[in-house]
Amino acid sequence: MSGNVTLKSEMPAVTASGLDNVVAAETALSHVDGEAGRLIVAGYDVEDLVKAYDFEGAAAALWRAAGCEPAPSEGEVREALGRAREAAFGDIPALLSSKRHQTVTEGLRTGLSMLADEPGEDTGERDIPAHIRALGAAAVITAALVRTQAGKSPVAPDPRAGHAEDFLRMLRDEAPSAAEVEALNAYMVTVADHGMNASTFTARVIASTRAGTISAVVGALCALKGPLHGGAPGPVLDMLDEIGTRENIEPWLEREIAGGARLMGFGHRVYRVRDPRADVFNKAVTILTNGNERVRFAREVEVAALKALRAAKPGHRIDTNMEYYTAVLLEALGIPRDAVTSVFAMARIAGWTAHVMEQERVGRLIRPQSRYVGGWPEDEAAA
Ligand code: ACO
Repeated sequence: MSGNVTLKSEMPAVTASGLDNVVAAETALSHVDGEAGRLIVAGYDVEDLVKAYDFEGAAAALWRAAGCEPAPSEGEVREALGRAREAAFGDIPALLSSKRHQTVTEGLRTGLSMLADEPGEDTGERDIPAHIRALGAAAVITAALVRTQAGKSPVAPDPRAGHAEDFLRMLRDEAPSAAEVEALNAYMVTVADHGMNASTFTARVIASTRAGTISAVVGALCALKGPLHGGAPGPVLDMLDEIGTRENIEPWLEREIAGGARLMGFGHRVYRVRDPRADVFNKAVTILTNGNERVRFAREVEVAALKALRAAKPGHRIDTNMEYYTAVLLEALGIPRDAVTSVFAMARIAGWTAHVMEQERVGRLIRPQSRYVGGWPEDEAAA
């Protein structure tokens, strides 16, 4: 440096355009071992976390791991989430009357942004922490938007019910089966947190500016929405529909790959082997559907897609990611494809808000550098 001026020759090199292998934070929340295909969440292997907890318990475990004070128990989270769902239902008419959103995920983005980072005295929500308000609201908003799209009126929450059960009930206006509640809990626990993915990093960047928990959640949702992150399951189902028949599997896949398309539900920045979450969902969907025709077809497409990808991209280790069986599982639960990313967000808010807690404790603004590759005034002068 000469004084405050960075010389051209001193510009730092870009590590990697996608920040691959850059460690951006320390976290006690989750760890992704992409080589071993292992995911640890709040100190548990993800397969064991699913056995140990319903979604409320997993959220409580994440918040405890993030140092939330007072440390919440599963029962306390269940009770506060029920109240948060009730409070959120009061905002539904205002959300629905705006009619600006095209998709459920866009509607969720609008609905969450209607929550205050710091609610005023008159809102009746002051005693519910922002992380729980966001979680409760996401389920109520998603269910209401799905029903409205189908021309039905929203169903009020039952604050005494479990979160997954109440979501399915608000969605359908009838009680779900125990197997369905178990499958949705397994899904939500499994996806509650996943290392420094794009949306979690976004949440941490926003938290580092001290903008507040709700703002961090809204920003994270915007990052999640893209098809390279949480927006893939809808296109997975479109792909299965478009392939349609067994005879069409191989020619369709070959044509798409040759044309440079990315097959949705395959590949991951970190996992170089099969995403362990795909196995949890594969099991859950098999129990739920008794391995029906759709599941068998999805498995056949998976096997053929892996074979085709390995032949076409021999230098890359591309395997099934969790979005593939997410799509099949949530379809079996009757969740429309337009709402799948919102249901993902309903669960991931537990992780995002835990990361917000961690980041707020760190207290330092995240502010990386860029490498300037534009013109320099002195070059212009010399020309
Ligand atoms: N289909 C076809 N080709 C693929 C796929 C895929 N699904 N994934 C990677 N490739 C190819 C790329 O085209 C590239 O080939 P090239 O070198 O010949 O250009 C090579 O494999 C490496 O690709 P990268 O983009 O470097 O891999 P990256 O690690 O950045 O990609 C990503 C990860 C974005 C998830 C990618 O695999 C992808 O686009 N998958 C499809 C979308 C998807 O399923 N998203 C959900 C991810 S899971 C989640 O976020 C919860």
